[in-house]
Amino acid sequence: MDLEALVDAMTLQEQVSLLSGEDSWSLPAVSRVGIGKLRVTDGPNGARGGGSLIGGLSAAAFPVGICIGASWDPQLAREIGSAIADEVVSKGAHVALAPTVNIHRSVTNGRNFECFAEDPELTAALAISYIEGLQAKRIAATIKHFAGNESEIERTTMNSRVDERTLREVYFRPFEDAVKKAGVWAVMTSYNQLNGTYTSEHSWLINEVLRGDWGFDGLVMSDWSGSHSTAPTVNAGLDLEMPGPTRDRGQKLLDAVETGEVASSTVRQGALNALRLMRRTGALGNLQHHQERVDDRPEHRALIRCAGAAGMVLLKNEGILPLQADGRVAVIGPNARTARIMGGGSSQLNPHYQVTPWEGLVGRLGEDDLSYAAGCSNHRWEPLLEGEFTCDFFASTDFSGPVVHSEQLQNANAMWMTPIAAGKVRQGHFSVRIRGTFVPKETGLHRVGLFSAGYSRVKVDGQLVANAWDGWSRGRTFFEEGCDEVVGTVTLNAAQSYEIEIEFASKPFIDMETHAFRLGIGHPMGDADIVQAVEVAAQADKVVLFVGRSGEWDTEGSDLEDIALPGRQNELVSAVLAANPRTVIVLQTGGPIEMPWVDDVPAILQAWYPGQECGNAIADVLYGDAEPGGRLPQSFPRQWCNNPTYSEDSEIYPGRDGHVRYDEGVFIGYRHYERAGIAPLFAFGHGLSYTSFALSDLLVASRPDSVRVAFAVSNTGDRSGSTVAQIYVGDKEASVPRPLRELKAFRKVVLEPGESTDVQIDLSMRDFAFYDVVSRCWRIEAGAFSVSLGISAVDIVAEVDVQLEAATLSV
Ligand code: BGC
Repeated sequence: MDLEALVDAMTLQEQVSLLSGEDSWSLPAVSRVGIGKLRVTDGPNGARGGGSLIGGLSAAAFPVGICIGASWDPQLAREIGSAIADEVVSKGAHVALAPTVNIHRSVTNGRNFECFAEDPELTAALAISYIEGLQAKRIAATIKHFAGNESEIERTTMNSRVDERTLREVYFRPFEDAVKKAGVWAVMTSYNQLNGTYTSEHSWLINEVLRGDWGFDGLVMSDWSGSHSTAPTVNAGLDLEMPGPTRDRGQKLLDAVETGEVASSTVRQGALNALRLMRRTGALGNLQHHQERVDDRPEHRALIRCAGAAGMVLLKNEGILPLQADGRVAVIGPNARTARIMGGGSSQLNPHYQVTPWEGLVGRLGEDDLSYAAGCSNHRWEPLLEGEFTCDFFASTDFSGPVVHSEQLQNANAMWMTPIAAGKVRQGHFSVRIRGTFVPKETGLHRVGLFSAGYSRVKVDGQLVANAWDGWSRGRTFFEEGCDEVVGTVTLNAAQSYEIEIEFASKPFIDMETHAFRLGIGHPMGDADIVQAVEVAAQADKVVLFVGRSGEWDTEGSDLEDIALPGRQNELVSAVLAANPRTVIVLQTGGPIEMPWVDDVPAILQAWYPGQECGNAIADVLYGDAEPGGRLPQSFPRQWCNNPTYSEDSEIYPGRDGHVRYDEGVFIGYRHYERAGIAPLFAFGHGLSYTSFALSDLLVASRPDSVRVAFAVSNTGDRSGSTVAQIYVGDKEASVPRPLRELKAFRKVVLEPGESTDVQIDLSMRDFAFYDVVSRCWRIEAGAFSVSLGISAVDIVAEVDVQLEAATLSV
């Protein structure tokens, strides 16, 4: 079908209708001209489908971004993209809101788990493959968030101040490659402002850089409620305002065309971009009713299990791993019997199932030789109250009038999105009474924690215990639309049933329409739990200790306050190590933590959030059925204060008066540690194998339009395994500040014992250039460049110099 003719056959009103969502996850159909509905779904570690972020039909939970980042394996990223495309289809959608490619700037960014790496080369390479995997099946990728969205603090208003060279060299790079090399079909702007302008109305960013310099011909959408205006966003090239129903467009846009603020040709272009996306994904003529279904495939299960192991990083191993299947094993820690499979926020989904580490180990070893103790907790909030809850909705904010709708919840956590209460109430104008019961397992004091985007309070057997209603104030929950957790205490008896009643009333939103609450009840753990863990450890031959964080900490909507292990986990680690030094630590976090016990522990495995097969993938690596395939995609500093964003000047991080200044420029991650002379605890690119490798025979030859790098890799050990050869480039005579080494290529190599292979990689001229802001081009300065071969940013095996002539390359 000729899209130009189709768009011209549409009325202005119809064209305008395609420039904003109809609801949270779709565009309206235009049946008069045979245009179906385009549907989108989050992303990026699966396809959640429509409806709320919580609950919904089950979906496959893949490893999170940082785990894929740690795989250093573009082919794996492609397979994951391809499998997620199947999932998007099963959820009746055409567009995945993925991948997330913001760069790990601060170790505390709540959303680092969702992003691949601190390095633009690694991020870009994985993004390209992931996008190609999706789009080969006609599912659009939506690379996000463009750009300067490296923190969750005041995320909907913060102004990121970043110089252009840094943008071009670091933060834009994955987006640029996604457009030029993967032909990505959609881009999502970020919430923040970039150098004083919201990215959703940033004409330089969208019209000049994205479309002009890079040639993007797809659709640009806002982040959810990230559009703040009518004419400025449309004129800047933002095609689509999400979600719907529209706030800024519709009649407002028609009026803006009427007054001449927006040209009708601009509306036509936006509609054309939407139609092009519909054609690419097959949504255009599809007028069929939308169906969501569960599609739990064995091949997805297998892929997720192997991808989880491929991203696990063996940080340290003094010969204890892989474990032998003998002796008594103590399985200890707050993450041992809970599957930490994903982070928090819009990427969360309802998994088909989730395997805990305990279940993974029982599946392999049986239960007879395993013992267990939690030791302590690592919750950010009180444990979510599970069970049946009935919600009675009122079309008023004070429970007046009749109950207009009732529905059930499977736990005390809800996020209501339009249509709320089957469309019987309006956003911002309703109240809900939620009733259920709680039967404690223990007798004694319980902590009752409540937070909400809206006003809420909870009564236990008629007694008000926690009040997030009176004096409600904005906190770090529910995308900064919720208050911080309010905790009350109550003494309860084991096995007795208590009535729980939560009252919730919507309130005017601040930036995003969000109506949500969460209630948790916990029996506090104490010294006795650590003592018990020590006893269990002492009686075993070896210990596997599962510590870390969870999606409550590693989450969209809030940054971490620090990178210490939460709660009493450091104490637990030290106590367990003292009782039994044959202890393996399995860490599950979305980024680095400080490890005061690092010298005392014989083995540390970083397992991130590896998706629904969590416990199986961990057991595979612990027992050597799978290689720990991961290498760090982010430097692990000894202390947070070593990180480039840690500063006396709060404008550098977390931001001051609405501004955050990226002062470190291109010196982020390993580039910073090297320049500052700070040895990281574990370097970018680091990770051990169960076998050993030798890298040798580095040859570097300058060719007319590239630099050829060749080297050999041999497996010198007695097991098959993988390594990641990394190529770093440095300009030895630069006239501008440039990092000593920057990653420019890498290759994951899998070899049998005794096997060798030759690797050849062609570096492009761009790999040697810096961005010259004055001349608006990429510039190579004449002189010597180092080309280094290594297995981490600090473990360089060989280095060769190459002389290059001066050259300029266009944007
Ligand atoms: C996130 C996006 C996400 C969107 C829709 C926003 O809060 O920043 O990444 O795709 O919500 O859920």
